[in-house]
Amino acid sequence: MRLVLLGAPGAGKGTLAKQLSKALGVVHISTGDIFREEVAAGTELGKKAKSYMDRGALVPDEVVIGMVKQRLSRPDVNAGFILDGFPRTVPQAEALDKVLEESNQPLDAVLDIVVPEETVVRRLSGRRVCRQCGAIYHIDNMPTKQEGVCDKCGGEVYQRDDDQPEAIRQRLKVYAEATAPLTDYYRTKGLLRPVDGTGTPEEVLGTALALLKG
Ligand code: AP5
Repeated sequence: MRLVLLGAPGAGKGTLAKQLSKALGVVHISTGDIFREEVAAGTELGKKAKSYMDRGALVPDEVVIGMVKQRLSRPDVNAGFILDGFPRTVPQAEALDKVLEESNQPLDAVLDIVVPEETVVRRLSGRRVCRQCGAIYHIDNMPTKQEGVCDKCGGEVYQRDDDQPEAIRQRLKVYAEATAPLTDYYRTKGLLRPVDGTGTPEEVLGTALALLKG
């Protein structure tokens, strides 16, 4: 199965992608996670990306597209994939279409996680992430058993730099301007499946799986 997850920052793309990846046995490709790994490793790509990410701006299309093309050329995507955080602009979506057309691997569906703005702001403000394994928590909805320590791997749990109020506001603005138009792009192609993202993670997973079966 080849899927794209759309949705505002904090809608729950990463949370759902991790669950779907397990349920469907396909790889989860998050451009945000790849950039954060590059930042942690101190690479040139990481340094470049960090300057955009910290202020809630998008990394330039040519940088992201090149990186995703490389990732999609690896053999583990042959069994399917879930793209989380890509595409985020119409030029990125067009570039993805071209790559998938060339490899004869069309998308099966685009899940658009729909959540009201006040909910995403609450989710982002309370989010915590494991530095080591990337597990996602929330101080109220999904707290770790021990404060600051990942339940899964014992790694350090931290707050992302772009989860500060000013960066959150900017990310929501960029989403509305650059990414929201992708819903029309994929609706026209008959691929768009809106998913109510307001329930618990298990409920959202159930809705998504039911949509994919139907
Ligand atoms: P990225 O990491 O992709 O950030 P994002 O799209 O802003 O999405 P988030 O990771 O913030 O949220 P999410 O929807 O995954 O929610 P999550 O599951 O964590 O990108 C970061 C930056 O990298 C961008 O700003 C940009 O600079 C750059 N970048 C990345 N891709 C790019 C691209 N293609 N082009 C250009 N630049 C790019 O959940 C959020 C919180 O809510 C968590 O605390 C979670 O526990 C909680 N939660 C989730 N689901 C539920 C639920 N059902 N009920 C209750 N709580 C829930």
